[in-house]
Amino acid sequence: MCGIVGYIGKRDAYPVVIKGLKRLEYRGYDSAGIALANGGLKVYKKKGKVAALEEAVIGEDVKGHTGIGHTRWATHGEPSDRNAHPHVSNGGSVAMIHNGIIENYAQIKNELIKKGYTFSSDTDTEVLLNFIEDIKKNNDCALEEAVRIALRRIVGAYCILLIDRDDPDTIIAARKGSPLVIGIGKNEHFLASDASPIVEYTKEVVYVNDYEIAIVRADELILKNLGNERQTPFITKLDMELASIEKCGFDHFMLKEIFEQPQTIFDCLRGRLDAENGTITMGGIQHYAEQIMNAGRIIMIACGTSWHAGLVAEYIFEELCRIPVEVEYASEFRYRNPVIHKGDVIIAISQSGETADTLVAIEKAKEQGAIILGVLNVVGSSIARVSHAGAYTHAGHEIGVASTKAFTAQLAVLTMIALKIAHTKKSIDDERYFALCRELIEIPDKVSLVLQQNEHVKALSEKYKDARDFLYLGRGYNFPIALEGALKLKEISYIHAEGYPAAEMKHGPIALVDEHLPVVFVATKDAYHQKIVSNMQEIKARKGKVISIITEGDTVSPTLSDDVIVVPAADEIVAPLLSVVPLQLLAYYIGVAKGYDVDKPRNLAKSVTVE
Ligand code: AGP
Ligand code: GLU
Repeated sequence: MCGIVGYIGKRDAYPVVIKGLKRLEYRGYDSAGIALANGGLKVYKKKGKVAALEEAVIGEDVKGHTGIGHTRWATHGEPSDRNAHPHVSNGGSVAMIHNGIIENYAQIKNELIKKGYTFSSDTDTEVLLNFIEDIKKNNDCALEEAVRIALRRIVGAYCILLIDRDDPDTIIAARKGSPLVIGIGKNEHFLASDASPIVEYTKEVVYVNDYEIAIVRADELILKNLGNERQTPFITKLDMELASIEKCGFDHFMLKEIFEQPQTIFDCLRGRLDAENGTITMGGIQHYAEQIMNAGRIIMIACGTSWHAGLVAEYIFEELCRIPVEVEYASEFRYRNPVIHKGDVIIAISQSGETADTLVAIEKAKEQGAIILGVLNVVGSSIARVSHAGAYTHAGHEIGVASTKAFTAQLAVLTMIALKIAHTKKSIDDERYFALCRELIEIPDKVSLVLQQNEHVKALSEKYKDARDFLYLGRGYNFPIALEGALKLKEISYIHAEGYPAAEMKHGPIALVDEHLPVVFVATKDAYHQKIVSNMQEIKARKGKVISIITEGDTVSPTLSDDVIVVPAADEIVAPLLSVVPLQLLAYYIGVAKGYDVDKPRNLAKSVTVE
C-alpha cells in the first residue's frame, strides 16, 4: 500500500514529488504529505487526496532540491493529519516516509517510551523512525549506519525514504517486501514505488532489491546490503510510455482501460500465438514445459481479480491438459501448512507483482521445492524476481484500482499456456488445438464488438443503479466471471453483490430473490446452456429482475430476461474474455451514476503490499 516518491537534484523537488504522488495515488489516498530539505526541514501533510495537500500548502515556502512525499493507505492508525507521513523524529532532524508494516513495532515502541520518546501518531512508521534516531544518537554514527543497524532488528515489510536536516544533499532509502525504483537522471535521481512518476524524466532505472540500502545524492547512487557491502546497481531500461499513464480523453482510467482491451489482448497474443501455423511461443514457459506436463498438479496462487483468472484457468487446464489444478487464495495458502511436493508447479497470478500475500506464499512454496511460474503484468516486480520463469501479460500500466485489462490479459496468457501444454502433451487433438488457436486470435476484434454495447450498458446502469443488492450467476467457465462481475460492482459502486454458481443458487441465495433483486446471468452459449436457462426460469418465477449476458443468436434467453447484453459467439473456453467486458462496463457506469470516484474507490488500494 501507499505510494512513495523522492527527488534529489537541480530541480525544485516540490512539483516533481507532487506530480509523482498523483501518479501513485491509486496505491492509497487516505492522506498525503511531503518533506523538503531547504535549510531546515519543511513538512506538510493533510488527510485526504494529494489535491487536499496541494491546497493546504498554497502560500507556503516549498523551495528545496531534496524532497520526499507519501500517499497513504492506512494500516496502523486512522486516516488523519497526525497519522499522515512524513513523520519527523523526536529530535526534529530526520523525516521519514514508509510503505509497509513494522510487525514488531509495539515492543520497540515500549522500549523507546521507557527512554523518554514521545509519539505524535499511532503509526508503526514513527516507531521505526525514532528507533533509527535513537541508534544514531547512541552510536554517534551516520544516518545510513543507523538505518542499517535498525533494519537488522525489524520484522515486517518496508520501503523507507529518509531525509536529514543536517545533510540535505542525501536521501537514504531501503526496502524489504515493498517496491522501490530509482530513476537515474543527469545529476539528479528520482525514487518511487513504481516507475510511473519517473518515466517522463528518464528511462534508466534501478530496481532496488530486498535488504538493500540506497544512499542517493544528485550525482551519486550507492547501494549496499545490510552487511555494509557495496552492491553494483543494475540499470535497466524502462519499457513504458507517458501516454500509458495519462487518461487520453477518457473520464476515468477505468473506462480507458476497459476500452484498451482489444489492444492489450492483441499485444498479449502478438509474437506468441501464430494461429495459422498453430505455434505458441512463450520462452519462459517453454523451458519448463516438461515439468508442467509431468507435474502431479498445478496450484494457482493469487488474490482478488487475479484469483478469478486462476479459477477460469483451472477449468481450462483440467479440460485441455488433464492435469489436476487447485486454486488458492494466497493469504490462506501462506498461513496453513500446505502439502507441497517437489516438482509441484505453482502459477502465481498478479497484476502488480507486488501483492504481499502472493509473494510470501510463493516464497514458501519455492523453499519446499515447487517450480514457480509468474503470470504478471509489471515487469521486474518482486514476484517476477522470485519466480523461476513465467509470462508477462503486457497489458500496460493499469491505474484504475478496479482491475480490468489486466484480468483479460491474464486470461489470454493462461489460455495460451494451457493450449501449449495440451498440444505438447497431446491431450487434445490437432483439430481442437488449431480451432482454439483461431478462436483466441479472434478475441481482440470480438471485444471491440462487445464495446459497441457501451451506450446500452450505460442506459442499463441508470435503470439498476438504485438496487440494494445484486446477484451474479454463471456456470462452468462463466462461474468465475460471475464472481468477477460481483467484485467489480462492489468495489466501484459499494452495492452489495454476490457471485454464485448458477445451480448452487437454489441451495441458499434464492431466498434473496424478490422483485427488487437484479440477477445478472452470465449465460453465453456452452455445452450446458440449457441448464442456465432453467436457472433463469427459477429466478423469473420468483419475480427477480433478470439481466443476461448472452451469445448472439440466442432466442430463448431474451424471452426470460428483462434486459440482455449480446456478445459475439465464441468457443466456451475463450468466452470469458468476452462475457466479462459488459460486467466491467456495468460496474463502471453504476459507480459513475452514483457519483463515486471509480478510479479511487474508498478503502481500497491498487497494490496490496501489506498483509
Ligand atoms: C481488483 O479489482 C482488485 N482491486 C484486487 O482484487 C486485486 O485484483 C488484488 O488485490 C490482486 O492484485 P494483484 O493482481 O496486483 O496481485
Ligand atoms: N504502516 C504505515 C501506516 O499505516 C504505512 C502504510 C502504507 O504502506 O501506506 O502509516
